[in-house]
Amino acid sequence: MSLVHKFRAVKGVRDITPPDSALWNRVEQAARDVFARYGFGEIRLPIFEHTELFARSIGEETDVVSKEMFTFLDPSPNFDLLIKGCGPDATEAEQQAMREALQHASHSDKLTLRPEATASACRAYIEHGMQTLPGNVKLYYMGPMFRRERPQKGRFRQFYQIGAEVLGQSDAPAIDAELIEMLMTFFNAAGLTGAQLFINSIGDKNCRPQYVETLRATLRKVHDQLGPDSQRRIETNPLRVLDSKIPEEQPIIENLPHIADHLCDACRDHFAKLRSELDLRGVGYEINWRLVRGLDYYMRTTFEIIAPGLGSQNAVCGGGRYDGLVELLGGPPVKGTGFAIGTDRVILSLQEANPNTPVRVVDVFVAWMGAAAYAPAVRVTHRLRQEGIAVELPPEELKFKKSLSLADKLGARYALIIGENEVASGKLTIKRLADGEQAQIAEGALVAYLGSEKS
Ligand code: HAM
Repeated sequence: MSLVHKFRAVKGVRDITPPDSALWNRVEQAARDVFARYGFGEIRLPIFEHTELFARSIGEETDVVSKEMFTFLDPSPNFDLLIKGCGPDATEAEQQAMREALQHASHSDKLTLRPEATASACRAYIEHGMQTLPGNVKLYYMGPMFRRERPQKGRFRQFYQIGAEVLGQSDAPAIDAELIEMLMTFFNAAGLTGAQLFINSIGDKNCRPQYVETLRATLRKVHDQLGPDSQRRIETNPLRVLDSKIPEEQPIIENLPHIADHLCDACRDHFAKLRSELDLRGVGYEINWRLVRGLDYYMRTTFEIIAPGLGSQNAVCGGGRYDGLVELLGGPPVKGTGFAIGTDRVILSLQEANPNTPVRVVDVFVAWMGAAAYAPAVRVTHRLRQEGIAVELPPEELKFKKSLSLADKLGARYALIIGENEVASGKLTIKRLADGEQAQIAEGALVAYLGSEKS
C-alpha cells in the first residue's frame, strides 16, 4: 500500500476549474456591469470577523449561528494550553486546563469564517464613518461564504455570493424596488431564464411581536401534529415553522394566521408602495406570505428568487430590509436593504439549461513545424495576443496531425500553420477548423483577417 496520502478537497468544498471558471467570470462580470449602472461600488470585505459580529447580527437562535459557523480561537495567551491539552500525551491536568481555557475564551478571542456578508458590510459602514458620505451608500461584494451545512446539490460548505447593500437615511420602498429591478436585470444579463420573484413583508418591531404571539398560540394548539423541529420552534422562533418543507405539516401551516393581516399601518403602507413600485418598473412578482427568511435582522420587505433546474435548493437569491441592524452593531440609526445571490446555484441553473455550451478559451492554435518556424511562431503569437486574441503555442514541436488534433480538442477556431513553405513564402496558412477552409495570409494582415472573420 502506498504511504503517500491522497489529498482530496474537504467535504462540501470544491475546486472551480476551467472551462467552468470562465462561466463564473462571465456571471460575475455581468453583475459588475449591471451594478455599476445602478451606482453601486465594490467593497472587499474580510473573510473572517469576530464571532460576536455574526452572532449579534444574524441571531443566536438561527441555524446559521447555532450550528453552521466555522469558528476558531484566535491565538491567545491560552493557545499553548490548548495545544498541550489537545496533544496525544496530554496529562489530565493539561486537558483540564484546556477545557477551562476554552470555557473562558471571551467572545473577542473567537473568530468565524463569514457565513454571509451583510454583517461585515454594516461593520465596515460604521468603521469607515460612511454615514457622512452623500446620498445612500450602495455597496456590492462577491466572494466565498462558509456554512457547515449538509452538502447536497446546490448546497456547499464553501459557497459563493454576489451581494449588494443600500445603507442610508431613507427607508423608501423605492429603494427595495430598485434593488429588485437591478437583480432581475442582472439575471437577464447573465442569461438565466425562468427566475421567479417572491416577496413578503414580515412587519417591524411594532407589529411583528404581536403576530409572533398569535402564531405561537395557534401553533401550541396543533403542537402534537407537528414534527420535533417545528415543535421546538414554537417556543424558540415560531416564524421558522412557516419555512417547514415537511409534507405532513403543510395542511396545518396553510391554516395558520397570515402576517399580512397583522401588519401595522406603516408596514402595510410600505408593502403596498413596494408592490406599486415594482409594477411601475415592470417587475413581475408573487406574494408568498410564508417567506420569513432564516436570519434575524430582517424587517418589512423580504424576497427570494428561485430558478429552474436546481431541485430542492432552488433559491438563487435572498434579501430584504434590515433597518436597525447598523444601530444594533453600535452605529448610527440608518436604514438598510440588500440581497445576496448564490453564485454556485446561478451557475448550476445556467449549466442545466445549456449543458453543451463550451466556453471557448482558444481562438488560434499555432501549428509550427521545423526549427526555422519557431521564431516566426513566437513572434506572431505575441502579436496576436497583443491584439486580444487567445492563442495557444505548443512549447515543443508536434507532428502536424497531432497539432491539428490537439487544436480540435482544445476547441480552437483556427489553426495557424507555419511550416517550411510558410517560412519560405512569408505567408502563413490559416485554417478554419469548423469547415477546413484555408487561406494564405501575410503575417501583417492576420489580425485584420481574424477580425473580419469574427463579425
Ligand atoms: P441567505 O438567504 O442566507 O441570505 O443566502 C443568500 C443566497 O445564498 C441563497 O439564496 C442561496 O442562493 C445562497 N446560499 C446560501 N447558503 C448556501 C449554501 N450552503 N450553498 C450554496 N448556496 C448557498 C444572506 O446571506 C443575506 N446576507 C442576504 C442579504 C443581503 N440580505 C440583505 N442583504
